[in-house]
Amino acid sequence: MHDGHVLMRQYILLNPGPVNVSPRVRDALLRGDVCHREEEFSDLVAAIRSKLLRAFAPRGYTAVPLSGSGTLAVEAMVSSALPAGTKLLVINNGVYGERILRMAEAHRIPTVELRYGWTERPDLTQIEQVCAHDPTVGAIALVHHETTTGLLNPVAQVGVLAQRMGKMLLVDAVSALGGEELDLERDGIDVCACTANKCVQGLPGVAFVLVREKVMQKMRDYPRRSFSLHLPLHWEAQERRSVPFTPAVQAWYALDAALDELLEETVAGRIQRYRAAAQLLRHGFSQLGLQPLLPAAYQSNSLTSLFLPAGMTYRALHDALKERGFVIYEGQGELQSGIFRVANMGHLTLDDFRRFLESLGEVLGMARSLP
Ligand SMILES: Cc1ncc(COP(=O)(O)O)c(C=O)c1O
Repeated sequence: MHDGHVLMRQYILLNPGPVNVSPRVRDALLRGDVCHREEEFSDLVAAIRSKLLRAFAPRGYTAVPLSGSGTLAVEAMVSSALPAGTKLLVINNGVYGERILRMAEAHRIPTVELRYGWTERPDLTQIEQVCAHDPTVGAIALVHHETTTGLLNPVAQVGVLAQRMGKMLLVDAVSALGGEELDLERDGIDVCACTANKCVQGLPGVAFVLVREKVMQKMRDYPRRSFSLHLPLHWEAQERRSVPFTPAVQAWYALDAALDELLEETVAGRIQRYRAAAQLLRHGFSQLGLQPLLPAAYQSNSLTSLFLPAGMTYRALHDALKERGFVIYEGQGELQSGIFRVANMGHLTLDDFRRFLESLGEVLGMARSLP
């Protein structure tokens, strides 16, 4: 017999997705074998789309679930959202801003880049200047939560600016949606890409894009830069209760269950739960003498980057914590050897985080007593 609970608890995942999920989400994988061309799958897609809108964008938006990871949803957004002859202004202050730039280049979309250090927030005046001086900029792309560091970008302020300057706003909310406050309508977001297996607490294999309805209508006339990622292709099929290609059926069932759970908890409730977990962790880190990479005002609700304690490698810290049941996460790129990351996304309780802090204290104490 399988024991879902034991499997789920094999490790507490403190990496920023895929996250630990509830038994209910895991059990949804076992709803049975299904043909994606049958009514029951069409009903599932309709239910997922309507739950996504209820949770995140109740007015004026449409939801397009896609099989694949967060990168695929972001690339579908980037490759579909611009009319011919316009440029994408990319705000780049981390690995995922950089990835948007590379995607635009791969699809031959002209770009303007505003690059910042990985611990810096973008300069709104510079964004405004670029928009004012280059009328060919059609859209701004921004990562809401730069998972590289845990830095929260000022999406609402960029949204106000984009609306004032008449530019579209594309947001990579892959590691934010469900964990951070985001009001698509108020914040002037035209297209927003996200994944199931981070703060939404589903399983890997399905992602989604939320698109302003009016923008989706316009996109139908934009160049088709990719055969399989073109958002209007998926949207048109889903509006007809169909899908263009074979979806990851079981992962979609899990997303459906995860959305039920989210709607019961409420998005506001989830944000509050994540915030409380981050506060508990940060208090504990400070008591253990660990230094955060970012100032408190820049930090998200769901990820903390910390400098590695002197004399300890990431590998040693990771392995000692994994022996105790906790999976932490390495830094990326230029921060790879200097920091470690602790996420607090997923179906976890404050007690899980308290036990993690105890184990961390034990590991650091042990490390300090080594000759
Ligand atoms: C902000 C952000 N964008 C995009 C991605 C890519 O998502 P995936 O790894 O699911 O392709 C991630 C993954 O961590 C992310 O954090």
